[in-house]
Amino acid sequence: MAAPSRSGSAAVPTLGTTVQFEIYRYDPDSDQAPRTQTYEVDTAECGPMVLDALLHIKNRMDGGLTFRRSCREGVCGSCAMNIDGVNTLACTKATADCRSTHVRIFPLPHQEVIKDLVPDLTHFYAQYAALEPWLKTETPPPSGREHRQSKEDRNQLDGHYECIMCACCSTSCPSYWWNSDRFFGPATLLAAHRWIIDSRDESVGERLDQLEDPFRLYRCHTIMNCTSACPKGLNPAKAIADIKKRLVQRHL
Ligand code: SF4
Ligand code: SF4
Ligand code: FES
Repeated sequence: MAAPSRSGSAAVPTLGTTVQFEIYRYDPDSDQAPRTQTYEVDTAECGPMVLDALLHIKNRMDGGLTFRRSCREGVCGSCAMNIDGVNTLACTKATADCRSTHVRIFPLPHQEVIKDLVPDLTHFYAQYAALEPWLKTETPPPSGREHRQSKEDRNQLDGHYECIMCACCSTSCPSYWWNSDRFFGPATLLAAHRWIIDSRDESVGERLDQLEDPFRLYRCHTIMNCTSACPKGLNPAKAIADIKKRLVQRHL
């Protein structure tokens, strides 16, 4: 017997259940306006994840349905979308974990849509690139070959290097919705923090200078949506708070 629904409207999907996937459709080249289209999928006929259902729809029902995916393992970040009202990765979200047998799927919010579930992340990636996200050093490595870290210093990077730049956090942040032209947003700020705390990097001052700006950093109002949204369990809000603290401390 199907488990009772959290929403009260329909059963939670179980193997063999027919699930309705209501999916955002929009082709700016041909559509006057966005719409949704609903597909019925027998979940016994596809794999367990929402991405499996999308691939099933694309392969068997509607080849025009457009979405990004690559790794299928929660590593590349390309299948990020809004499922059941939550930004997440389609490849790691099980259909059985959706709230009911009617699953609504939209592109990541507040981004231009290229087509259907594909957002335009050009600006998001440009912000990341603006950080110059690579190791910057002046001093030659003592070994002559590489800059080494202690285990403890390396451990500081845990919770940062795992970021797959999926944009689930930034596109769940109200401050980013309204000010993404100037606010860097949680994903980029987590990446900034990753370099600020890297024991080998010698451009911490410049990196902090870049962030000391009313918009780039300080549009974060600690709403915490970003941390709740991250499908990798990372905590951008904590990283942002630490950057703010470092900026205060350097003026003491
Ligand atoms: S803590 Fe809130 S305001 Fe700050 S980046 Fe995260 S979601 Fe946005
Ligand atoms: S912090 Fe999490 S949600 Fe944000 S881009 Fe990185 S992996 Fe995605
Ligand atoms: S397909 Fe790579 S994260 Fe989902």
